[in-house]
Amino acid sequence: MPLQISDLSDAVLHTHYAVRGPIVARAQELEDHGKEIIYCNIGNPQALGQKPLSYVRNVLAACERPELLKVANHAFLDDVREKARYILEQSRYGIGAYSESKGLRFVRAAISEFIAARDSHDGVAQASNPEHVYLTDGASKGVQTALRLLIASGNDGILIPIPQYPLYSATITLYGGRQIGYYLDEESGWGLNEQLLEDAMRRAMKEGIRARAIVVINPGNPTGSVLSEDDMRMVIHFAKRHNLAILADEVYQENIYKPGLKFISFAHLMSKIEEREVSLFSFHSTSKGFFGECGQRGGYMEVRNVPEEVIAQITKLQSVALCANLPGQVLTYLMVSPPVAGEPSYRLFDEERNAILSELGKRAKMMEEGLNRIPGIHCQPIDGAMYAYPSLSLPAGRTDEEYCMTLLEATGVCVVPGSGFGQKPGTAHFRTTILPPTSQIEHVIDAIAAFHLQWR
Ligand SMILES: Cc1ncc(COP(=O)(O)O)c(C=O)c1O
Repeated sequence: MPLQISDLSDAVLHTHYAVRGPIVARAQELEDHGKEIIYCNIGNPQALGQKPLSYVRNVLAACERPELLKVANHAFLDDVREKARYILEQSRYGIGAYSESKGLRFVRAAISEFIAARDSHDGVAQASNPEHVYLTDGASKGVQTALRLLIASGNDGILIPIPQYPLYSATITLYGGRQIGYYLDEESGWGLNEQLLEDAMRRAMKEGIRARAIVVINPGNPTGSVLSEDDMRMVIHFAKRHNLAILADEVYQENIYKPGLKFISFAHLMSKIEEREVSLFSFHSTSKGFFGECGQRGGYMEVRNVPEEVIAQITKLQSVALCANLPGQVLTYLMVSPPVAGEPSYRLFDEERNAILSELGKRAKMMEEGLNRIPGIHCQPIDGAMYAYPSLSLPAGRTDEEYCMTLLEATGVCVVPGSGFGQKPGTAHFRTTILPPTSQIEHVIDAIAAFHLQWR
């Protein structure tokens, strides 16, 4: 008899991933039948028209086809050629060969330099150890590795924000761990609140769960909030008090739109306050920021305050999949070592980067203001990331799943119900990206407004 559904484990059967759930499946069906769909369900910038950066694709193209570098009138600028040559030289066998399990050594060294420069304080660069950096297929694989490491028994729990990005709930379920939700405070712009963290810990202890780590997503998905230094300090002290590791999901570190707000990494703050007892796993990705290269699957995980014997175990886990994909590693290298002023590619790179980021900032504002004009919808400020997560006043007994499915059928706008990210009982939300082109955002807002006002 072939494999039956009843043969599968509960862990597999109970794993849900809302951003690609039944509403998206229905959207694809409708599209196959000729309906125009605007996919606002997932932060996939190039699927919504964002152009890849010319420099990045040129270097990648030259790495993929090194023989082009020998053609007399090739299309590559000098610095593109030099960069590609350097990558090919350093990788030794080109990008069609496996690398060592942690990832290419020169890429890890460049990531460490990037982190050290980004996190410098009082003009002093901070140390980052390339041997504690892992190249990963997108940030997702790094997160999965960290969770695999931390969930040692069915009683081990991970604190995750509610609302959260479903990678966390899905992976915790898949690895047989326990999810400990801590609520973010919607009224304060989805801020962190120590009381709410302690409440979650108390609930976990009562259920006999051994909490192992806390996940913090900054800037927030789906919330769009950006953490203050004070809130981050509070998390570090909380983690220390309860003997938790911190998983810092910082994939949106370049996506901050509110003037004056600055991204602070957990690595920076922990080195500033000389915290050495709390283990830290930080994640970054080429999928977001202004790269938007989701399909290339580039990313890294940096690990701190972890003994060498644990590092060896992480390396062993990484080596089970041999290594992260090499084009993704090249993209990650380019993310941490972009062209600098004076190089031939710099001007265009800078123009393209600024155009993407300023466009995203405009769209965040348009989405927030547009949603807040609709009676019965309330959206907190979108200070960063790529999403709006507005609350909905719904007629009694109706759910946000029904709302999103009917919205899709009626308008072609595909958003994800709040139930997929988590929310306080009795509240309803949806998540939309801010990624559609400016001309389409007005249309999305008008369609939601017209739908919302008549839906019963
Ligand atoms: C908060 C967060 N973390 C991680 C990821 C995973 O991204 P990737 O695996 O493409 O790097 C996403 C993707 O949307 C995300 O929003």
